[in-house]
Amino acid sequence: MNKDKVQIFDTTLRDGEQVPGCKLDTAQKLIIASRLDEMGVDIIEAGFPVSSPGDFLSVSEISKIVKNATVCGLTRAVKNDIDVAAQALQYAKRPRIHTGIGTSESHIVHKLNTTKEDIIARAKAAVAHAKTYVEDVEFYAEDAGRTDNAFLAQVCEEVIKSGATVLNIPDTTGYCLPDEYGAKIKYLKENVKGIDNVTISCHCHNDLGMATANSIAGAINGARQIECTINGIGERAGNTALEEVVMVFKQHPYLNLYTDVNSKQLNEMSRLVSDSMGMMVQPNKAIVGANAFAHSSGIHQDGVIKNRATYEIIDPLDVGVNESSIILTARSGRAALAYRAKKVGYELTKVQLDIVYVEFLKFADIKKEVLDEDIHQIVEASKCLQA
Ligand code: KIV
Ligand code: ZN
Repeated sequence: MNKDKVQIFDTTLRDGEQVPGCKLDTAQKLIIASRLDEMGVDIIEAGFPVSSPGDFLSVSEISKIVKNATVCGLTRAVKNDIDVAAQALQYAKRPRIHTGIGTSESHIVHKLNTTKEDIIARAKAAVAHAKTYVEDVEFYAEDAGRTDNAFLAQVCEEVIKSGATVLNIPDTTGYCLPDEYGAKIKYLKENVKGIDNVTISCHCHNDLGMATANSIAGAINGARQIECTINGIGERAGNTALEEVVMVFKQHPYLNLYTDVNSKQLNEMSRLVSDSMGMMVQPNKAIVGANAFAHSSGIHQDGVIKNRATYEIIDPLDVGVNESSIILTARSGRAALAYRAKKVGYELTKVQLDIVYVEFLKFADIKKEVLDEDIHQIVEASKCLQA
């Protein structure tokens, strides 16, 4: 069966950069954009040009250097936003304007204080205006996750008629369950005229920890673009994590979906974004966390030393990590100690290992983690090498 490509739309430099304290300057953004381009992402959302002169400059400079990816600028459904975005994108080889408006009851009534008819009129006008500048126009229905499906379908149908090429269905508040979000995409596929001529995009936030699950559910139900950020950074609890999406498709080939991202660059990319923003990655973060390939309990270590796949579903080399690590703690067993001792030059016999292990446990009960230099000290202290 032929596999379908899911386009990766990276919004690290727009939604990701909205994280408090994580502002990047243009030089830093240029480095990240060129690395994203090299890594194989399909679309780079470079910023929100009307929001500040700095963002305008970044989008404009990124447009000049990106070689392969589409460069996208965000706007509200406001004529001036679109004019400014078009200007910022003028040097892009493949420019895209991303425009949209809130469609949920909460947005229509409380945020915009208007009517459904007005929302449709503004959405159509924004897409039609963007279309006067670029062929590739993405429309977002903000808070689509909490928008009634029938109205959402109506909005989508109307913006397709105005020329939208991509329909973004954001779960802006991270509220949906995977089944519900998947069903929403399926509903649109089945009820919107012209939907097969456009790309449906998932843009899921992580407020309930389900952003990746929701995006995958969307793709299984027909979406062919996923909006995500490196390390899952973004507003509040963040966005769908790019590295998770890429590895889900890679590790589950029967889904018959793939991306063009070179997964071997994921670890380095994660560090680049984390260092540039000064935002630490939680150690237990999937794929790119410091502990993602670290084993510390005796039972797991014994299994991994015998065969890595016993406790690892991903080969660390596939994401740019050189090897799995066996961490020595008071929970480690003899197999782990023998393995690490061998790495620093001690080939211990069974009798020697028994002696060193007693010494090791005394040490490990005091220290949280036993390091290479500690192993030398423990082996010497156990006076076992004559045994
Ligand atoms: O979360 C959201 O709805 C957004 C849109 C602006 C695409 O970020
Ligand atoms: Zn968002």
